[in-house]
Amino acid sequence: MKKVVFQDNVTLDNIIELKGIGQSYDGGNHWIIKDFDLLIEDKPAQGQFVVLLGMSGSGKSTVLRYISGLQKPTEGQVLIKGKPIDDKTHISMVFQQYSSLPWMTVLDNVGLSLRYQGVAKKERDERAMEMIKLVGLDGQEQKYAMYPTLSGGQLQRVAIARSLLANPEILLMDEPFGALDIKTRIQMQELLLDIWDKFHSTILFVTHDISEAVYLGDDIFIMKSAPSCIVEHIPVDLPIPRKRDIKRDHYFMELVHEVEDLMIKVSTY
Ligand SMILES: Nc1ncnc2c1ncn2[C@@H]1O[C@H](COP(=O)(O)OP(=O)(O)O)[C@@H](O)[C@H]1O
Ligand SMILES: [Mg+2]
Repeated sequence: MKKVVFQDNVTLDNIIELKGIGQSYDGGNHWIIKDFDLLIEDKPAQGQFVVLLGMSGSGKSTVLRYISGLQKPTEGQVLIKGKPIDDKTHISMVFQQYSSLPWMTVLDNVGLSLRYQGVAKKERDERAMEMIKLVGLDGQEQKYAMYPTLSGGQLQRVAIARSLLANPEILLMDEPFGALDIKTRIQMQELLLDIWDKFHSTILFVTHDISEAVYLGDDIFIMKSAPSCIVEHIPVDLPIPRKRDIKRDHYFMELVHEVEDLMIKVSTY
């Protein structure tokens, strides 16, 4: 297993860079995250699927919040394509909890980021409809984005369409399929693989499901807790595009076991 080696001089070729990140909520007595580095290379014609694994409370959601600009670390740098996050950086996040606004239609939810950017309604609706079709919600656009008007899987499709419209280059997903039944979950995994293939997005994905991590991921990073930082990097050299049959492959199963063993090891650090 390779350890991650970070190069200090790499800047422009990375789509996401977190450098020397530290997080403390009590003025530096206790560090939840310390010396955390994560460099994700820009692969424009290809995109990539990066999975973050770690025990509960290890800071995975916090790391995604830094990248979406919802939170600033106590120390360290967060760069998107070599630049600090500013008002023009629109990266939204898909959560496990349904994050759509239930008093708005599917169409208005998906077009939300364009509304913040001041795009006129006609153009907003047209562009939102493209994404709605792409995630398979054609015909649902006038419904309110709430449960049970829409199913759990449909609500996650709304959130994915909204994120894609905000910025198809980077998708942040925080345990997005954790609440879905197995059939819906498999459908959503396939949808995500199609999106990766179509948009060449960089997808940063948090999950507790190791089989899902190996199936979807190009690269898996494991974080240790208290204070948190990345301690293991597992490149997943399975063929792309992924086909569901691969889950029966001996090598796939071996990787799942290897990652599971590493998770146990890391939890004792
Ligand atoms: N506002 C806060 N004040 C104090 N501790 C916090 C605050 N927000 C998060 N934490 C702590 O930060 C740690 C990381 O949280 P989180 O990023 O949600 O972890 P994960 O997503 O890996 O489960 C947790 O131990 C949590 O208790
Ligand atoms: Mg979390």
